[in-house]
Amino acid sequence: MHRTTLTLHSQFSIGDVSPLIFGGFLEHLGRSIYTGVYDPSSAHADADGMRVDVIDALRELQMTIVRYPGGNFASGYHWRDGIGPKDARPKVRELAWQSIEPNTFGTDEFVKLCRKLDWQPMLAVNLGTGTPEEARDWVDYCNSPTGTRFADERAANGSEAPHAVPIWCLGNEMDGPWQLGHVPAGQYAIRAQQAAKMMKDCDRSIATVACGSTGPMMDTFLEWDREVLEHLGGLADYVSLHRYVGNRNGDSAEFLAVTNSVDRQIEAVDACTRFISEQRQSSERAGLCFDEWNVWYRARGGDGGGAFAPELLEERYNLEDALVVAMFLMSFIRHADCVKIANLAQLVNVIGPVMTRGDDLMKQTIFHAFRMISARKMGISLRGAVRGPTYTGERYGEVAYLDHAAVLDGDRLHVFAVNRSLDEDLPLTIDCADRPIAKVLDAEILHAPLQAENSFDEPNAVAAVPFDGWVTNRSAEAVLPPHSFTATTFALDP
Ligand code: AHR
Repeated sequence: MHRTTLTLHSQFSIGDVSPLIFGGFLEHLGRSIYTGVYDPSSAHADADGMRVDVIDALRELQMTIVRYPGGNFASGYHWRDGIGPKDARPKVRELAWQSIEPNTFGTDEFVKLCRKLDWQPMLAVNLGTGTPEEARDWVDYCNSPTGTRFADERAANGSEAPHAVPIWCLGNEMDGPWQLGHVPAGQYAIRAQQAAKMMKDCDRSIATVACGSTGPMMDTFLEWDREVLEHLGGLADYVSLHRYVGNRNGDSAEFLAVTNSVDRQIEAVDACTRFISEQRQSSERAGLCFDEWNVWYRARGGDGGGAFAPELLEERYNLEDALVVAMFLMSFIRHADCVKIANLAQLVNVIGPVMTRGDDLMKQTIFHAFRMISARKMGISLRGAVRGPTYTGERYGEVAYLDHAAVLDGDRLHVFAVNRSLDEDLPLTIDCADRPIAKVLDAEILHAPLQAENSFDEPNAVAAVPFDGWVTNRSAEAVLPPHSFTATTFALDP
């Protein structure tokens, strides 16, 4: 393959990378909570019933924010079911995933978990079967100082200090007919406006996320977003985007190009937020909150058959999925001017980077891709110019073999690079026009057969290893193996 050149300049900044794009998502779904993060009967359980082995693995991902309790689950959830003495909490029939929900894990347990992992809690209120007032009361329970009915209840449940939940989602995927309480955009907008007003009246410091379109495949894509944002005005600080992708046709070249359409999705929703802010003659515009994203196409069945913690959505990931996960994050970094929050969906067992089986734990391929970028997250996203070979995707047009993102952190430059070629090496030169590259500080690579996955028997079949292929001499050169992901930190000359 001909050489690809990536040219950077330290002044060509897109914006600060928001640390909150390294978020996750925990839903009451399958074995995500129960037997996932929370299992008092496990040999690994701590005094709070949380699995220490799972916590230790998740800590490596250095996530900053986690969304809870759903997902589709949120649209039928009444938060009061999940507080107070555990033996008095109701066991209910959960409709979104057709499961039994014992409510032994709820708001206070979630916040406790967040504190153990330094995550900011992010809660999604029920705007399906719940009321705006119920949403307001939840803000009161979590965020008010003691002295109100709900805050005093929180204190009685063991948390004198407010939980200080900063970000609240106004429902989940309300544009989808599968959602409990789904309504047309205009009706959702009224519910969301009423809820957001009361929630913000209760705590002026919170930020809200309006439900945007579930994805570009929706008939109402962008129309929904426009109508909702128009009605909510300044009450929506963010608008949500969701996206799940998969290699349904067994066409890996096409699959590795799918993140070109993630770029387009981001740019289309951003255009919508710009339209709204111009229309409102406001200098503010809603940020993008990509609060569900991942590869998910194999384990699609969502019927738990009335069981407790059924095995649902237990997707097993291979190397090509990990490359796509890396490219999602790289797309968010390249759109640092508008993508402010993002949540990998999900964390444990359910389309998760971490799997448990009994007391065992295994890290999936996507775990490594996420960690490699998250460990190098701080800095300014740089706009890079790429010159090099491309191929033509059936649905995604011209696709560069190199997908990249670059982050400048003082004298350090982080470069992320995927070689999308299925069979050819990619010779790469990185040139930072105004700051010579002095040396490599550290570099790692994720590379294996495309379909290779990790398993409980072979947990390290796909794992990142050090990469020693760089040669630096003001610029940097390396040959990237086919279908590989490399994350490198360079030192720059001042
Ligand atoms: O993450 C699994 C599900 O996908 C979520 O519950 C829902 O919001 C989305 O459709």
